[in-house]
Amino acid sequence: MLLPEGVVIDGRTGSVTPSTDRYEKRLSDLRGFFRDDAALDRAIEAGGDPIAYEVFDFRHADSDLAFGTTIMMPGKVGVEFYLTRGHFHLRKECGEAYYTQSGEGLLLLESRAGETRTVEMKPGVCAFIPPDWGHRSINTGKDKLVFVWFCATDAGHDYGAIKDRGMRKLVVERDGKPALVDNPNFA
Ligand code: F6R
Ligand code: ZN
Repeated sequence: MLLPEGVVIDGRTGSVTPSTDRYEKRLSDLRGFFRDDAALDRAIEAGGDPIAYEVFDFRHADSDLAFGTTIMMPGKVGVEFYLTRGHFHLRKECGEAYYTQSGEGLLLLESRAGETRTVEMKPGVCAFIPPDWGHRSINTGKDKLVFVWFCATDAGHDYGAIKDRGMRKLVVERDGKPALVDNPNFA
């Protein structure tokens, strides 16, 4: 039987204690998600294939609710800021919340009909991701971006659509600031 417990989340480092799982994605794991493959090769070479983000989970199959943290490193591939792969949930009725703890970024969302929205990610903002909106987070700051996410344990991840087609918009640095631009590679 699952018992109640307090899970300690460090809003600076993103550590989750206790956690049930952890994974990391390095730049080489994100091939195909950035606009510029040559810039990705250069960033991998220059940085020794750095970690782009880490995810900690607190998830039990016997509970409907899961949560965890995502810790995104600051950085760019060419002019494009570090990003997560982005996904829809397999269960279309499942939304999610992202509560930013530290750092700054943008949550880029795309509906099935192709509408784009962004929500600013900064401490104090809890972003609501409605069911069946694709979502990707982007670290536009100079420090780590740490957020807590909450969703259904069995929401599932559908990475295929975004991996194959990309998202309609990219977040790039322009004149020293983040800018939302059309993705020339969107299929
Ligand atoms: C879970 C969720 C987050 C992301 C994480 C990494 O539904 O949205 O935990 O999984 O931020 O992003 P992806 O999975 O898109 O690489
Ligand atoms: Zn999600």
